[in-house]
Amino acid sequence: MTAGIEIGMDGAGLPVRIDIEELLATRLLVQGNSGSGKSHLLRRLLEESASLVQQVVIDPEGDFVTLADAFGHLVIDAGDYNEREIARMGARVREHRASIVLTLESLELEAQMSCAAAFLSALFDAPRDHWYPALVVVDEAQMFAPAAAGDVSDAVRRTSLAAMTNLMCRGRKRGLAGVIATQRLAKLAKNVAAEASNFLMGRTFLDIDMARAADLLGMERRQAEQIRDLERGRFLALGPAICRRPVAVKIGAVRTSTRMGTHSLLPMPVSEPDNMRTMLFAEMEPDAPPPRSEPRPAPVAADDLIRQLAAADGVDSAHPREDAAQVDPQATEGVVVDVLEAMLADPDSAFQPAALLYQDFTVRCRMHRLTRPPLDLAAFRRRFAMAQAGMLDPADSRWAESLALADRLPEEMLAPFLLLARAAMDGEPCPDDDALGRAYATSSPGRVRRMVEYMEKQGVVVARTDFGGRRSIGIPGLGLSTTAE
Ligand SMILES: Nc1ncnc2c1ncn2[C@@H]1O[C@H](COP(=O)(O)OP(=O)(O)O)[C@@H](O)[C@H]1O
Ligand SMILES: [Mg+2]
Repeated sequence: MTAGIEIGMDGAGLPVRIDIEELLATRLLVQGNSGSGKSHLLRRLLEESASLVQQVVIDPEGDFVTLADAFGHLVIDAGDYNEREIARMGARVREHRASIVLTLESLELEAQMSCAAAFLSALFDAPRDHWYPALVVVDEAQMFAPAAAGDVSDAVRRTSLAAMTNLMCRGRKRGLAGVIATQRLAKLAKNVAAEASNFLMGRTFLDIDMARAADLLGMERRQAEQIRDLERGRFLALGPAICRRPVAVKIGAVRTSTRMGTHSLLPMPVSEPDNMRTMLFAEMEPDAPPPRSEPRPAPVAADDLIRQLAAADGVDSAHPREDAAQVDPQATEGVVVDVLEAMLADPDSAFQPAALLYQDFTVRCRMHRLTRPPLDLAAFRRRFAMAQAGMLDPADSRWAESLALADRLPEEMLAPFLLLARAAMDGEPCPDDDALGRAYATSSPGRVRRMVEYMEKQGVVVARTDFGGRRSIGIPGLGLSTTAE
């Protein structure tokens, strides 16, 4: 066995091993009721194989973030990014072979599904050059590949299911090896479960799940009764990467704990987390990007920087000229407006991460001979959001009330809210989902709907749909409403 790890002990106290190379080719399904020890098992597998293979963990409960301290996994907190950023990170994870934990804990179910789907699809769609082998561990997989329609929208369920199906059915060629855990086999889409050839079955109460587990293990029903009596942390194992006949395994101890307060027994094996973080999060950090003269440590960040700098052709950044515009606030403001207008003319701009937009902004300002960026990142984001709604002059008193109302909303809702406010002020039809989505940097109608719902909950807007299905949005704080669209 080339790259084996010890997962636990059998009844005789002999080690039970998993061949990681074989696992990459044959995938793994773990089933067991809540509390049976699935997450512990996944953790054992991840810890033992951390030095052998790249690992990607889709973590609905934020259980696995503790791998970061001991093994150097990067934690991506899904709540901090939009869908486009998540997809970009997925692509970079492939490119840089980073081991990561995508924690979805802070999201609601539908958002968890959309986010996991965007991320998994990006892993799957990575260019052939980046098809390195990786374990893709999905805990609570029935959430992402449900067997039946639930209370999420059909579109979201389909997207999520498709991403999971791709992972399990077509991922192998691309180097992706699905390792999925579920509380109930009956709740997991059959085609997703069917593609795993290795199984670890833990305590299972319900007959329907036990029957399916018995089928997968190739056991007689009566024999499978033992699954009901398994203790926590004990699983029946079968599959080409583990053993040819079902073996009862007691899963071994783990080194990290479920939550904070980990015991960091292991130094990071090879990669340098800081370096990796820079590579993955380059241009996405909420902080200002590094100054342009500083060499970027990672090849990809450098590539992006080169692309940015190419736009500034002809500007001698080593010897920038101070210009009158730099000290004349009115001239500076004129440049800011020109630059914002030019950026908005690019239809893709709405979906770029803020840090990338900011970099573009500073480069364009330099082309206008403003050597120091006239706005910091936070101020830029605000101005950009305002400009997206057509508000180029921040001093325009017409907008004062709308801006005050927007203070009750999260920053990323500023642009869509101002768009609604403008339509209301101008007595125009309600912007459609596309327009609101662009302002909110999402192409997901579900996200747009939830955003409007959120605004309603805050009492900032009142949405109304007439019998013809046309929507209008009222803004009580302004005493105005859009017309119906
Ligand atoms: N093999 C094991 N050895 C020691 N403790 C375990 C083992 N398996 C599970 N546990 C403990 O049992 C509890 C439930 O396990 P967990 O993995 O969270 O279950 P599940 O994910 O199936 O709901 C946790 O506190 C975990 O630490
Ligand atoms: Mg669990």
